[in-house]
Amino acid sequence: MNIGVLGATGPAGRGLAARLASVGHDVIAGSREESRAEAVVGELRDEWGPRVDTLRAADNAGAATADVVVVATTWEGAVATAAEHAGALAGKTVIAMANGLEKVGREFHPVLPEGRSLSEAVQAAAPAAHVVAAFQHVPAAAFAALDQPIESDIIVCSDHEPSRELVLGLVAGIPDLRAFDGGSLVNAIGIETFAAVLLTCNIRHKGKGTLRMLGLEGYQA
Ligand SMILES: NC(=O)c1ccc[n+]([C@@H]2O[C@H](COP(=O)([O-])OP(=O)(O)OC[C@H]3O[C@@H](n4cnc5c(N)ncnc54)[C@H](OP(=O)(O)O)[C@@H]3O)[C@@H](O)[C@H]2O)c1
Repeated sequence: MNIGVLGATGPAGRGLAARLASVGHDVIAGSREESRAEAVVGELRDEWGPRVDTLRAADNAGAATADVVVVATTWEGAVATAAEHAGALAGKTVIAMANGLEKVGREFHPVLPEGRSLSEAVQAAAPAAHVVAAFQHVPAAAFAALDQPIESDIIVCSDHEPSRELVLGLVAGIPDLRAFDGGSLVNAIGIETFAAVLLTCNIRHKGKGTLRMLGLEGYQA
C-alpha cells in the first residue's frame, strides 16, 4: 500500500510510519515543514537502515497524495489539518488516530470538542474522505521499536465498510497486532475516551499497558 502520514514528526506518526515501512508499505512521512520530515526520515534510516527503505519525506500536502492517509498530528491540529487537505483526501481511506486528552493531576480526562469524537470531527472536516478510527491505544514507543513485537489489539471503526475492511487488513498485516471490527464511526467515541482511562491506569500502576481482548479471535482476511 502507498500510505501518507500527516504529522509524522511526532512520536506516534514517526513510529507508525517506520512500522508500516518495515512491513513493506511505501510510506510518505509528512510535516508542515518538509525539512522536519526529512530530518525524521534521516534519523529513522540511521537507526533502522534497510528496514525503512520504503520510507520517504514530504510536506503534508505531498503525504496527502498517498492512497491511504493517516492523520497523526496533535489532536488539537487534526481537524484543521483534515480540513486543509480535504480535497486531496476525497474518496480515500483516512485513518484518524487522535485522542483528545487533558492531564489533570495524576489522571487523564477525555476531551470531546463539540461533544463528539475527534474521528467524527475529522470526518466532518473532510466529508468526502472515508474516515477510519484506529491505533488510538498503541503507545508511540511500541510502534517505533521495530526490533520488538507490538502486542496490542486495535479496534477499527468506520461508516465506510470497504475502508474499515482495508484498515482491518492493514493492522492484521503487522505481526503481533490483532484487529477488531468496532462498527460505525459513532463508536470511535468509546475508543478515544477509553484512551484517557488506559493512560490513567498506566500512571497509577506505573506501566505501559495497552488493550488486549479476551475470548475473541482477531480479524482474518
Ligand atoms: N503518543 C502516543 O503514544 C499516541 C498513541 C496513540 C495515538 N496518539 C495520537 O497520535 C497523534 C500524534 O501523537 P504525538 O504524540 O506523536 O503528537 P505530537 O508529537 O504532539 O504532534 C505530532 C505532530 O503534529 C504536528 N503539529 C503540531 N501542532 C500542529 C497543528 N496545530 N496543526 C497541524 N499539525 C501540528 C507536528 O508536526 P510538524 O510540526 O512537523 O508539522 C508534530 O510533530 C495525536 O493525535 C495523539 O492523540 C498518540
